[in-house]
Amino acid sequence: MVPGTFAEELGVLLKARFPLLYVESFEESRVLAQVRAVAGQGLPAARPVYVWSVTEGIRTPTGDVVEETSDPRRALDWALDHQHPAVFVFCDLHAHLGSDVRSADAALIRRLRDIASSFARGQQARTLIVVAPVLRIPPELEKDLYIVDFALPGVVEIRRILDNIIGLNSGGRISPDLDEDGKERLVKAALGLTEHEVESAFARAMVAGGVLQESDVELVLAEKRQVVRKTGVLEFLTSDLDLDDVGGLENLKAWLGRRNNSWMEEATRYGVPAPKGALITGVPGCGKSLTAKAIASAWGLPLLRMDVGRVFAGLVGSSEQNMRSAIRSAEAAAPCVLWIDEIEKAFAGVVGSSGDSGTSSRVFGTFLTWMQEKRSHVFVIATANNVASLPPEFLRKGRFDEIFFVDLPTQVERVAIWRIQIGRYVMKAPANTDFPNYPALWEELATLSEGYSGAEIEQAVIAALYQGFADRRPITPDDLKREITDSVPLSVTQAEQVQALRTWAESRTVSASTADA
Ligand SMILES: Nc1ncnc2c1ncn2[C@@H]1O[C@H](COP(=O)(O)OP(=O)(O)OP(=O)(O)O)[C@@H](O)[C@H]1O
Ligand SMILES: [Mg+2]
Repeated sequence: MVPGTFAEELGVLLKARFPLLYVESFEESRVLAQVRAVAGQGLPAARPVYVWSVTEGIRTPTGDVVEETSDPRRALDWALDHQHPAVFVFCDLHAHLGSDVRSADAALIRRLRDIASSFARGQQARTLIVVAPVLRIPPELEKDLYIVDFALPGVVEIRRILDNIIGLNSGGRISPDLDEDGKERLVKAALGLTEHEVESAFARAMVAGGVLQESDVELVLAEKRQVVRKTGVLEFLTSDLDLDDVGGLENLKAWLGRRNNSWMEEATRYGVPAPKGALITGVPGCGKSLTAKAIASAWGLPLLRMDVGRVFAGLVGSSEQNMRSAIRSAEAAAPCVLWIDEIEKAFAGVVGSSGDSGTSSRVFGTFLTWMQEKRSHVFVIATANNVASLPPEFLRKGRFDEIFFVDLPTQVERVAIWRIQIGRYVMKAPANTDFPNYPALWEELATLSEGYSGAEIEQAVIAALYQGFADRRPITPDDLKREITDSVPLSVTQAEQVQALRTWAESRTVSASTADA
């Protein structure tokens, strides 16, 4: 058995006689098959498996149905009275655990608590496993329940599904046109889907075009996009920005550049581990979000943004579920870039002891554990302004590969930003084709705009354009100079905050920029 798999973890928990387990998965039949395998062969003494569903009630290992157990409370009573070694798998119980306190079935939760204490103390080895597509844990059960992660099918399992489909069709109407390499690509593309989704993605790919071929990778990826969309917490972004659109930040760009292609088979063979990602903090408006967006298109990877507000927007108890499903979807889309903007907003509550701190620290724990153990090629870019409110665990090594600080641009960086922004806004407009766009001008503007952020420089260019348009004339370098000298930058209006940020960053972070020569 592969260490860390569901089967292994389940084996340990059953041996340790954990009374109540919760498996969050859509894949009931896969879970059941594995529970049966572990309970049957993975233990010193085999344990019979009883399965409850709302339509049948309890079904014994020999296939008989126990009368009058379709009511979940009765079924639980029956399990409670059952004084022999056993594993009970309850499939539809989440509907009774309630999406909030009001809709929960108090009598049923009481029985589960009774089962927890009775199974824990009893002579016989008994365990009850709740299998549900969503995580719903009433607060009363938090201490009694152990959550077991059930991974989606891996490379080996997906390969078996693919071979199966090809085998079934051999000699049939649909001919697969795949070499070993093509098969590997298809299998990789399907990583992150459930068994059922894998089957239907392959089946659909076969029907389309009447042949299964390497180009069907696109179809499988489209299926994954669907899966991501359904979660609601993640969003696919498209961006045509490139790293050339980011002025300065050479240190950060070089660091990112070294991680390009790290998701390729070749990199794995070389022995580089999957990068976890970077946390980018810094002065507002200096290119944190810009870099996050640019990196995905520079690498040709899908860009997913996690809406942290939405993670916490659900009903009580569902934030953790949201975080888990977001993580799972991101893994489904791997290799990809997962951008978590303003991450401190989500986790700010963890430090203080606000009423919600229980939930947010659990959600936070789920995220950190994932970051720590992550093997998948989900490159996380988290951006944060208010670093002081980030819990210290966040900054520990092993979570992010590096923490970068983006400061106000240096002279050289401002030159690059002026060049980019003038190119982007001024030179594109037909009215301004005669604008004197020379390095000497960028140099002069950069000197004038000391203490200004990239966003402020961009705003100055836009303001000049408005002026030019209002006067129905092309803009001149003087317009740009005037806009800059007329505005007061954040580094002046909020000098203390900016200074505090820098002081904080000095000992904890790596500079995103290289010093001007
Ligand atoms: N280094 C830069 N190079 C080019 N443009 C920049 C740079 N920094 C900022 N800009 C311009 O300013 C805009 C805002 O920057 P961005 O959204 O990346 O800032 P941020 O650091 O995420 O700020 P916030 O903390 O407010 O979220 C960008 O879209 C870009 O047009
Ligand atoms: Mg931002």
